[in-house]
Amino acid sequence: MNLIIFGPPGAGKGTQSNNIVNDFNLIQVSTGDLLRNEIEFQTNLGKKIEIIINNGELVSDDIVNLLIEKIISDSNNFNRLIFDGYPRTVSQIYSLEKLLKKYNQKISIVLSLNVEKDIISKRINGRIICEKCFKIFNVYFNRPNSKNHNCDKKHLKIRADDNSKTILNRFETYTSKTKPVLDYYKKGGLLREIDGNQEIAEIYRKIKGILMNIRD
Ligand code: AP5
Ligand code: MG
Repeated sequence: MNLIIFGPPGAGKGTQSNNIVNDFNLIQVSTGDLLRNEIEFQTNLGKKIEIIINNGELVSDDIVNLLIEKIISDSNNFNRLIFDGYPRTVSQIYSLEKLLKKYNQKISIVLSLNVEKDIISKRINGRIICEKCFKIFNVYFNRPNSKNHNCDKKHLKIRADDNSKTILNRFETYTSKTKPVLDYYKKGGLLREIDGNQEIAEIYRKIKGILMNIRD
């Protein structure tokens, strides 16, 4: 199965994708992680992406679609993808539909994490990520320790776009450009809304229940 995990910045898309990957043998495709990877290389493209992300705006559809096609076209990934943070505009939906058709695949379900804004702000303010293994932690809710994390502490970082000014812009971008994506999938009957205000384990219990009932 291919699925989309949807939600505002800091909703828990990455956190829940990590859980799903382990239990369902799927592959997480976070466009945010893919773009941050490009920044690491400090190519001309990477430098342009860095400015856009740090302003809380969206990277152009062409760049993102190109990254996505590389992944969908790989036969090792056939029907095993969790799209995290994509599609993020209505035009990205159409590109994804085209690509899925081209490579003979479909989306089985869209999981939407609904979280209140003040909860999200605290989650983003407390987020720490490991640049080596990409695990996501939180100083308030889920601290890294020797049981849940094996990499050296030096790899733990705060994301450059997790600052108060960028966060505000990310929310605005989400509301104006990304939220309309939900209507499309609601109309298509693929959307499952989940209360994302609860604890990580409780949200995952619900997600697991939903995914275990999907047959395709
Ligand atoms: P991206 O990296 O996708 O950022 P985002 O959508 O803003 O979402 P986040 O990664 O911030 O949040 P998340 O929902 O994954 O939450 P997480 O699990 O980390 O994109 C970054 C930028 O790249 C964009 O702004 C844009 O510029 C560009 N971009 C990306 N995709 C693009 C696209 N398709 N097109 C164009 N541009 C694109 O959790 C957050 C924190 O909360 C963590 O600390 C976690 O430990 C904690 N937490 C999670 N769940 C819970 C819980 N239930 N209880 C308590 N704490 C929790
Ligand atoms: Mg994320």
